[in-house]
Amino acid sequence: MRIILFGPQGAGKGTQASRLAEKTGGKHIATGDLVRAEIKSGSELGEKIQEYNDRGDLVPDEIIVEMMKPHLDQADSWILDGFPRNQAQAETLGEALEEIDARLDKVVALEAPDDALIERLSGRRQSEATGKTYHVQYDPPPENPDEDPGPFIQRKDDTEEAIRHRLDVYHEQTEPLKDYYEGQGLLVTVDATKPIPEVTDEVLRAVGEGS
Ligand code: AP5
Ligand code: ZN
Repeated sequence: MRIILFGPQGAGKGTQASRLAEKTGGKHIATGDLVRAEIKSGSELGEKIQEYNDRGDLVPDEIIVEMMKPHLDQADSWILDGFPRNQAQAETLGEALEEIDARLDKVVALEAPDDALIERLSGRRQSEATGKTYHVQYDPPPENPDEDPGPFIQRKDDTEEAIRHRLDVYHEQTEPLKDYYEGQGLLVTVDATKPIPEVTDEVLRAVGEGS
């Protein structure tokens, strides 16, 4: 199954993609995770892209495509989280799929209003040990260190200024892709304001795996 999990910052793409990967066996490919791993490695490329990430700007297309393509080629069942984010990336993805004679099954768009997104991102915490994402109120980190020892830290781009900028970039460059995929008959929208398990159920139904 080849799925794009689409949506604004904080809608729950990462949260839902990892649950969907667990349930379907598909590979979760998150371009944001690839970007953060490259920065953490201290490579020259990592240094170059850090400023884009911290500001909340998109990393240049050619760098992102180079980073994610090997992951795309490795598996024939995947869930994309954070890619594509503009028309050029969507077209690159379409061409890459054509080359291997494959097609997208669904584009699932998670929808929530900006004020809910800002609240979620402000309360988000990420475990340094496991990389797992939590929320101080809606999905608190476990108290038992055997489950996840933490520490649980805030992402560099979860400052209020960067959050607002990321949402502007989303509305301007990424959101128009909904029309693009709707035109291809692939778009399904899901109300992402509900609690996490309910959204998971809806996403599973949207991709034909639900009960
Ligand atoms: P990326 O890591 O993808 O960040 P993002 O797009 O800003 O998305 P988020 O990770 O913030 O949101 P999410 O939807 O995954 O929400 P989550 O599940 O964590 O990208 C980071 C950067 O990398 C970009 O800014 C850019 O610089 C670069 N980049 C990445 N891809 C790129 C590309 N294709 N092109 C160019 N540059 C690229 O949930 C958020 C919080 O809400 C969590 O705390 C969670 O616990 C909580 N939550 C989730 N669902 C619910 C719910 N239903 N109810 C209550 N709380 C919930
Ligand atoms: Zn994410």
